[in-house]
Amino acid sequence: MGIIYFLLLSCLGLAIAAPRRNCGSAGEVENGHIDYSEGTEFGDKIVITCNPGYQFIGKQGPRGMVCGDQGWMGKLPSCKAVTCDPPPMIVDGTFSPIKETYSYGDIVQYSCQSGLTLNGSKSVSCSDDGTFQPAPPTCIMVQCKDPDVKNGEWVQGSRPPFGYKATVTFKCRSGFIMNGESTQTCEINSEWSPGLPTCEMVTCEPPPTVAGGTLSPSKDKYVYGEVVQYSCEKGFTLSALKSVSCSEDGTFKPAPPTCITVTCEPPPMIVDGTFSPIKDTYTYGDAVLYSCQNGLTLNGSKSVSCSDDGTFQPAPPTCIMVQCAHPGIENADWVQGSRPPFGHRATATFKCRSGFIMKGESTQICEMDSQWSPGLPICE
Ligand SMILES: *[C@@H]1O[C@H](CO)[C@@H](O)[C@H](O)[C@H]1NC(C)=O
Repeated sequence: MGIIYFLLLSCLGLAIAAPRRNCGSAGEVENGHIDYSEGTEFGDKIVITCNPGYQFIGKQGPRGMVCGDQGWMGKLPSCKAVTCDPPPMIVDGTFSPIKETYSYGDIVQYSCQSGLTLNGSKSVSCSDDGTFQPAPPTCIMVQCKDPDVKNGEWVQGSRPPFGYKATVTFKCRSGFIMNGESTQTCEINSEWSPGLPTCEMVTCEPPPTVAGGTLSPSKDKYVYGEVVQYSCEKGFTLSALKSVSCSEDGTFKPAPPTCITVTCEPPPMIVDGTFSPIKDTYTYGDAVLYSCQNGLTLNGSKSVSCSDDGTFQPAPPTCIMVQCAHPGIENADWVQGSRPPFGHRATATFKCRSGFIMKGESTQICEMDSQWSPGLPICE
């Protein structure tokens, strides 16, 4: 403990007794700069740098000088303007301007013989270190192969030969879809960029199925242009077009139909008759029964039904008055049957008087046409 105290005290005493040497200013550096940020006392270091476009002779970079007990140690360096030797020549190309020596910041431009493309920086400049930067370019022949896109065609752009930056735009034939970029550019490496597209045949996923109907043909995949036909079960009708086809965008068009239940408008009214039930609309299979006013006979089908074409079938009946004439047969007597008036299905049976013989049928029925059937007999 005592020793540390002693050392501390003697250090303090020394500092007070002998102040550090101060080297002061190191002088002037023309076209350069001195950094005194450490200070100028014994052991401090200054850093000397040249202004842009100037450099120390021989060696580059900042230089340091230390403050010693005799003052700054060493000789203050001087900064000279940077000069560059001509940049390198390149194969199949040249540069300009051509001079013996260039000063800092001078720019030279490279160019290639015609038909060749500069790969790299066109211009280089005389930089701080007395060399041209960046590295000189090279002259290369850029030529992209004739682009071959199967099932595709050239739409617009350059024509062969395809040099640097030539562009070509493709389109796929109809029914093919493009995978990749339609426009390609010939790059410095003689390759098309971003890479030739391909044209793939359009296929469609199966179209939607419909309730109450079927589609044909039924497959896992369809190709462009393929047609699918829809049909509905009996009693259903298609809401839209029957067929759809696989279109360019890979979907079936137009939208598929649906199968909707067939409905019928009410069947026709008939003269002197009616039908039942009476509704606003009927669905497939609904039947109505016709009837005639009293005394009239239904001629035709009593029952008609809503059929798959949306109409009632068969045709409605008519109501007619059936009345057969009073049957008068010479030399015959009425035996039995209906009483007048003789309506539909009225019967009459006759017998010939003695001495007469019947030709024809003895029993006659009054038919729809108001005639006796099969036809009144005669007694001979
Ligand atoms: C272009 O120059 C670069 C850099 O020097 C080099 O890597 C590249 O291969 C050159 N390209 C061609 C197509 O020669």
